[in-house]
Amino acid sequence: MKVLVIGGAGYIGSHVVKALLADHADVTVYDDLSSGHKINLFPAAHFVEGNILDYGQLEKTMRQGFEAVVHLAAKKAVGESMINPELYAENNLLGAVHILNAMAQNNVKALVFSSSAAVYGMPEYLPVDEKHPLNPISFYGFTKQETERLMDWYDRLKGIKYTALRYFNAAGYDASGAIKGRDRHPQNLLPIIKEVVDGKRQYLSVFGNDYETRDGTCIRDYVHVSDLADAHVSAIKRLLAGRPSGIFNLGTSQGVSVKEVIDATERIIGKPLPVRFEEHRLGDPAVLVAASDLAESELGWKPRYTLIDDIIRTEL
Ligand code: WQD
Repeated sequence: MKVLVIGGAGYIGSHVVKALLADHADVTVYDDLSSGHKINLFPAAHFVEGNILDYGQLEKTMRQGFEAVVHLAAKKAVGESMINPELYAENNLLGAVHILNAMAQNNVKALVFSSSAAVYGMPEYLPVDEKHPLNPISFYGFTKQETERLMDWYDRLKGIKYTALRYFNAAGYDASGAIKGRDRHPQNLLPIIKEVVDGKRQYLSVFGNDYETRDGTCIRDYVHVSDLADAHVSAIKRLLAGRPSGIFNLGTSQGVSVKEVIDATERIIGKPLPVRFEEHRLGDPAVLVAASDLAESELGWKPRYTLIDDIIRTEL
């Protein structure tokens, strides 16, 4: 299996590369190292330093006879996408067009795309399945939805089969410690907690404790990044076996509150975590939990990490 992993030096990408190598795939990483890290590259994978906006280099790289492409090279900061939509339009939308065009030009017929629960917006019912209306409330989520629609047209017109994997809250790190490069400016709960534990931040700001949830804090579906990575390997194999394009949620279907994440962290580190309760963060739903039955039936995917303590342990 010869696979091009675009964004393979990033947080999820590097875990995908590890899972592919463990499955004996021939892997090439294409990454501009803007948010990914050199230390996340595996010597067993080939590496091309390049940007998806550089069509010439991307297309040239694509000439090597890949059977499948994994695209994890989108920008992912929700807040930044609302302040600088131009950057997200260019990188996430134009970047996706480039990838699809380079695939079409070189007859590569299978694409696995990292999509996001952000395509759903505020949940109208729970757990959120793939039939839930798409109503993104961030420009970031909009770029994910548009890329899914674009892939659908390239399927119809160019025969490129795709799988969109809608991640819920990706969390944790490879348990063997093989992946060391951390996000440079973490925005998500667990990496922020890690910075508090490491003394790089004084405290964790908790965005609201008066939500209508069991303890007043928001509930999310934290899914381990190594489980996400396995789903990519299954998704590639499924497409190469001739199955149709598909869109699958990836979550554990278990809701965990911010307070429960804090409690678990304190159990692990054996001392209290400094916390300050603050106002709600704009656009935060009280609860967001996935129905992942489709991923189970279509990809044979079942997350191995089901306990939040185990996920957090790999983060710290
Ligand atoms: C989790 C919970 C916060 C930070 C986002 C995107 C989603 C996907 C994953 C990329 C929430 C609370 C957080 C903090 C806090 N993105 N929190 N203090 O917002 O559920 O999902 O990341 O693909 O599209 O929307 O994740 O980790 O930011 O927050 O209290 O300093 O932790 O309010 O309830 P979120 P998150």
